[in-house]
Amino acid sequence: MKKNLVVANFKMKLASKTEIETWLRNFEKASKKFSSLNTETVFCPPSLFLGNFSELIQKDEFSLGAQNCFWEDSGAYTGEVSPKMLASMDAKYVILGHSERRKYFNEQDSEIAKKVEKVLKSRLNPIICIGENLEEKRQDLTMEVVLRQLKNILEKVGRGNIEKTILCYEPIWAISANNPENPPTSNEIMEARLLIKKFLVDKYGRTTAERVKIIYGGSVDQNNVKEICIDTGMEGALVGSCSVKPYDFLKLVKTFTD
Ligand code: PGA
Repeated sequence: MKKNLVVANFKMKLASKTEIETWLRNFEKASKKFSSLNTETVFCPPSLFLGNFSELIQKDEFSLGAQNCFWEDSGAYTGEVSPKMLASMDAKYVILGHSERRKYFNEQDSEIAKKVEKVLKSRLNPIICIGENLEEKRQDLTMEVVLRQLKNILEKVGRGNIEKTILCYEPIWAISANNPENPPTSNEIMEARLLIKKFLVDKYGRTTAERVKIIYGGSVDQNNVKEICIDTGMEGALVGSCSVKPYDFLKLVKTFTD
């Protein structure tokens, strides 16, 4: 069965070991009786806290991911973390191409493509973020931007590997840190999903395309998740702000499992 995927992107919001431990305590308490056959929840803390989640991920429905990585396995790369290191810490997923990486670290599609390749070689699953900024949306360039990013980033990803890849439509302007007035409308989200699906069908064929998960990110919380993620046919969510509130986040996850 193809499961929904809910990804908690903690960013740098839980900013110390104590804050991480408090979050874990509360989430563990709240999720004691939680089980789900149709939804996998992925926790993506800053990499140095991956080890703190080892107990939580003993449950089948929970797994671990990173917020970024480098494209080499090892070597003289001060400050970087490799897919191989992440795998050795039991990570299963890596978020790549997040707009905050593009904005503050000037990451380009070509670098993201290299990271995706390496992550797949390391038997991890990349969660690739794509989406337009506000200016591009105003100029009606959403479809063009999404297609360009898909083409660039998936250029070298073949049929065997695309199934391990998760595509996240995350309009940059809709991320809560960018203070959007509203998230996109259901129609806008559905249009983006259909565009991504069509791209996948054209490149990989229908059967393979059906196996690729497409999720949505940008201001998702426990109140709007049904309308903007589930009713739009998305198969999961990338969640920033709401993920650092353990009770609200669990409510959000449960909406997928209902
Ligand atoms: P948000 O962040 O849920 O706070 O909008 C999502 C993200 O940036 O991945």
